[in-house]
This record gives sequence, C-alpha cells and structure tokens, in this order.
Amino acid sequence: MPPDHHRLALQLRDGTPVSARPLGPADRENLATAYQLLSPDARYQRFWTRTGEVIGDRMLDRLLTVDGDSHAIWAVIDNSREYPGMGAASYWRYPDDPTKAEFSCTVLDRDHGRGIGTLLLALLWLDAYSKGIEEFVGYTMPENQQVIGWMLATGGQGEWDGYKAIFRWNLADVSLLPLTPTAGELAERLAALSSRFLG
Ligand SMILES: CC(C)(COP(=O)(O)OP(=O)(O)OC[C@H]1O[C@@H](n2cnc3c(N)ncnc32)[C@H](O)[C@@H]1OP(=O)(O)O)[C@@H](O)C(=O)NCCC(=O)NCCS
Repeated sequence: MPPDHHRLALQLRDGTPVSARPLGPADRENLATAYQLLSPDARYQRFWTRTGEVIGDRMLDRLLTVDGDSHAIWAVIDNSREYPGMGAASYWRYPDDPTKAEFSCTVLDRDHGRGIGTLLLALLWLDAYSKGIEEFVGYTMPENQQVIGWMLATGGQGEWDGYKAIFRWNLADVSLLPLTPTAGELAERLAALSSRFLG
C-alpha cells in the first residue's frame, strides 16, 4: 500500500475529527477489545457466532494478516477517547473470481448512525477498486432489518437465498447509487477520497 494511504485525517458529519488506517498484526489487542465492546447481537450479526466476548486466535490471524492484495482491513479511530476504535471493515477477494470480494463492516453500537459504516464502505470500496475488484458482496440475516436498511441505503442490490440476504455493490459504476441521503454521503466520500487511492 502506498505510504499516504496509511493514515487519513478525516471528520465525521458532526465534525468529530477521526483518523482511518489499515490494521495490521500490531492491532491484535485493540481488535480483541473491540470484540468485547460489541453487543452480543452485533457480534452474532457480524461473526455469526455466539461464543462470548473472546475472539479466537484464528479469527484474529485471519483478520489481521494482510497477504498481498486478497484482503484488507481498515478502522476508523477517535484518538481522544479512552478506547479509540469506532468501527472496522474488511474485504476478502474470492479466490475463484478475483473481480469480486466479500465485504463486512462493524461499527461499535454506541457509534451507530454517525456515518462511520458509510465512511468505511467508501474506504474499502476505493482500496478494493484500486486493486481490480469490481463487486462487493455482503451477507446478513434476513431478520437484521437495521443492516438490511443500511445496505439498501448505500446502494447494495439485495436478494435472498432462502437462508441469508445477499447484497452486491457495483464498485465500477457510482452512477448506480440510489438517491438516498446515505448513498449521497457515500458518493461524497468516494469523490473526496478517490485521489488518495486511484491517483
Ligand atoms: C451496518 C452498520 C455497519 C452501519 O454502520 P453505521 O455507522 O451505523 O451506518 P451509517 O451511520 O454510516 O449509516 C446509517 C444510515 O443507514 C441507513 N439505515 C440504517 N438503518 C436503517 C433502516 N433500518 N432502514 C433504512 N435505512 C437505514 C440510514 O440512512 C442511516 O442514516 P442516518 O444516520 O441518517 O440514520 C452497523 O449498523 C453495524 O455495525 N451493525 C452490526 C454489525 C453487522 O451486522 N454487520 C454486518 C454488515 S456487513
């Protein structure tokens, strides 16, 4: 990753100064703490497991090992807080179709509705697109209406496979974004950040 991608100084829509950066092996303890801070429901929605507050070593390895261009993980951070992490998002490129990647995102419950998920989607979108990924695929449970609402509001095209809801974002065509306030915010973030990723 080029050096100027490493830490971005940004503002939330309420003016809070935050930074965004990719995570790496040194963030192991921070990520384990973030996992503890999630509500049991959020943990289940994101990780599909009810194993309590301790994240497993295998999951930490999987999240924090960045191996070539197949995986990225970014966090949004408020350094003025005791626990600075606010949310993180990642993608994994599909081995059998390198133009697609699975996207997932988690914002701490106390920070929902502040635009952090949408900011993370914009960051991962540009990171992925700069590496040749043209579609994000996100999964959620059909009863998770809050996340389904966010996925629709950010322009995800949804379908239902009988077990889970599947959303797809076309990273190559921003003009497909719907006329929702959240997609408008996403489009603004993409426009403001694109030169940092796409040159
Ligand atoms: C999904 C998630 C990442 C969204 O993060 P967030 O930071 O709260 O999202 P944003 O603030 O950027 O966007 C919220 C917007 O989404 C839209 N939205 C959210 N819930 C909605 C709903 N039920 N119906 C319609 N729109 C909704 C709204 O437009 C909302 O805008 P608002 O701030 O004006 O209310 C967060 O809810 C989360 O971490 N959930 C738990 C983890 C999870 O399930 N992740 C799976 C996703 S891969």
